[in-house]
Amino acid sequence: MEYGYPKGHIFYRKLGRIYPLITHGEGIYLYDEKGKRYIDGSGGALVVNIGHGQKEILQSMADQMGKVGYVHGTQFTTQSIEEYAEALGKILPEGLEKIYFLSGGSEAVEAAIKLARQYCLESGQSQRWRVVARWHSYHGNTLGALSLTGRVGARRPYLPLLMDFPHFPPPYCYRCPFGLTYPECELECGRALENVIQLEGPETISAVILEPIIGATIGAVVPPDGYLSLIKKTCERYGILLIDDEVMAGMGRSGKWFAVEHWEVQPDIMVLGKGMSGGYFPLSAMITKADIVDLLKERTGGFVHGHTFSHHPVACAVGLAVLQLIHEKKLVEQCVRRGEYLLKRLKELKAFPFVGDVRGKGLMTAIEFVKDQKTKEPFPRTGRFTEKVVDLAFENGLVLYPGTGFVDGVNGDMVMVGPPLIIEEGQIDEIMEILKKTFSQMS
Ligand SMILES: Cc1ncc(COP(=O)(O)O)c(C=O)c1O
Repeated sequence: MEYGYPKGHIFYRKLGRIYPLITHGEGIYLYDEKGKRYIDGSGGALVVNIGHGQKEILQSMADQMGKVGYVHGTQFTTQSIEEYAEALGKILPEGLEKIYFLSGGSEAVEAAIKLARQYCLESGQSQRWRVVARWHSYHGNTLGALSLTGRVGARRPYLPLLMDFPHFPPPYCYRCPFGLTYPECELECGRALENVIQLEGPETISAVILEPIIGATIGAVVPPDGYLSLIKKTCERYGILLIDDEVMAGMGRSGKWFAVEHWEVQPDIMVLGKGMSGGYFPLSAMITKADIVDLLKERTGGFVHGHTFSHHPVACAVGLAVLQLIHEKKLVEQCVRRGEYLLKRLKELKAFPFVGDVRGKGLMTAIEFVKDQKTKEPFPRTGRFTEKVVDLAFENGLVLYPGTGFVDGVNGDMVMVGPPLIIEEGQIDEIMEILKKTFSQMS
């Protein structure tokens, strides 16, 4: 039996693909019904941080479902919600303490946009509503989040539906948008934020949103030192909130609980998703400072926002079990060592003429492909280089996460490697073997 469109009733995510049917997963591996084994080299979309098949998570879910499967967030709370918030609260960056639980990353971003707006209203700044974001960012696919997302190809069909949110260039040193080199550049890309704020009118801007390490659109781009603190200072100068989108980089993936901690910057709002539940249940969060929530309580009496599945008891039970497992196995500390090893080994791939850049932090890494290593000329998109690499690696038993179109809105090829944080060094060697085999086949 084959699975894929137009067979059956599923409106699949990819309409031209035959899908293997996965029967089970264990650790970093997935197994399909034909017995083929895949290394989940990207943990889905950098979601699966504690690996597949962890029995503790199943138990926590079953236990909570056995007690109560659902209560509405406006009517009740449960022990799982209270305990998870308590445990998560202990690891949050200083100043962030009030957690609003949701189901997905885009939902958390939408909540952040609204919280920033409501905070501006409550504090007597009613003209402020626009959120500034960066090109080549990814903040989600719902219309508010997509209005922030700087992935040109994803925005194009929906442009008439998007909100008027300004964008500025990312700190993409491999292809500096200003043609400069760090540190002589004096962080021109960071200073560009001030230009945008001034041009657009600071009195209209509620917040700036950014991924501390840029993920899905451009592939594990780490900002140069000093960049994030420059952004924070600029926000402060204009009374603008800073939203830290940690949906991909958070929960230990970068080698710290939250990527922003590498540069000791304090955001006003943070959004989390993906690794919170390790993929076992839809779960995300929008987290902010007490004084922001205090103001809402004092003025309107609450946050004018909500979803049926927010503050979900089972999601929170899963989140708590995942968090406990990360603590027990010391996965954040382990991620630093494994990340260094992975990056060192990935750099060997520069021997292939089409590998332009290898980058990342912790277990959030990417390989950018180019037609010419010296000039960094990208492959023409019509050649579908990334898709060919991803398909070949898949055939060879390795799952990678693709990204395209980030150089100029059309061209640009990369894959992300972001395995579960439980990965062992020997398993990184297995990934390398398949990558080398795949790249040789591409040569
Ligand atoms: C940084 C970032 N923000 C937001 C999102 C949106 O999350 P979701 O796909 O769960 O809606 C993603 C998803 O990849 C992401 O990487």
